[in-house]
Amino acid sequence: MVIRIAAVGDVHLDQDVVGRFRPALEELPDTADVLLLAGDLTRHGTESEARCVATEFGGLGVPVVAVLGNHDYHCDEVPAVIRVLEDAGIVVLEGTNVVLDCTGVRLGIAGAKGFGGGFAGRCASEFGEPEMKDFVRTTSAISEQLGVALREMDCDVRVALTHYAPVPDTLAGEPPEIYPFLGSYLLGQAIDSAPTELALHGHAHAGSERGTTPGGVRVRNVAHPVIKQAYSVFHLHPPYAGATAGKVSAVSASGIS
Ligand SMILES: [Fe+2]
Ligand SMILES: [Fe+2]
Repeated sequence: MVIRIAAVGDVHLDQDVVGRFRPALEELPDTADVLLLAGDLTRHGTESEARCVATEFGGLGVPVVAVLGNHDYHCDEVPAVIRVLEDAGIVVLEGTNVVLDCTGVRLGIAGAKGFGGGFAGRCASEFGEPEMKDFVRTTSAISEQLGVALREMDCDVRVALTHYAPVPDTLAGEPPEIYPFLGSYLLGQAIDSAPTELALHGHAHAGSERGTTPGGVRVRNVAHPVIKQAYSVFHLHPPYAGATAGKVSAVSASGIS
């Protein structure tokens, strides 16, 4: 049984964007089993923008599972944003997980926004000023929650969903100076702590699509400016037992400008 996962991030919806994705989204029940949204769903994180997200991604005929991004936090309306999305039937993960039944296969999705900090040899450490220690502790706590959420699932296939990047591979194209603000190796370690089949993220608009964690988990940057289509669809092929046992293939999907 092949699991078909559609995904996109960084749609940055506001009133003027509503409707652009919908024609391609209407085809989802024929092409995918689930749609994953990798954060930055809104432009500034207002409740009214969240209603635009609900209009665009609600009632699609497939389950929709999301994490929030940094833009969704900007106006400090996170509880209202989450409520609006959940009222539209969108599952919002933050250090939590959900297991979906895909025609007999249990698809487990663990999600967290993630945070920055950087990557091996170029990362912030929990040292010095309280503000720096808070920064790194935030990433550590979120990564720990993601790891637990991945490991505790009773499922056949594990997928990790974040906004921030777990590896530097998919940042290629971004200025190296901003890598510490685009992701953290701690997210990659969390993903590698479970037999994860696929890790999806957004946030790096100028990054690239493909990467791999040190443990061999396939990572894909699904930020809309990177994939340049309404969503990408990934096919997960059995066997699913471990990070390297299965096969991931990407198929194209309907594009929008
Ligand atoms: Fe973004
Ligand atoms: Fe972002």
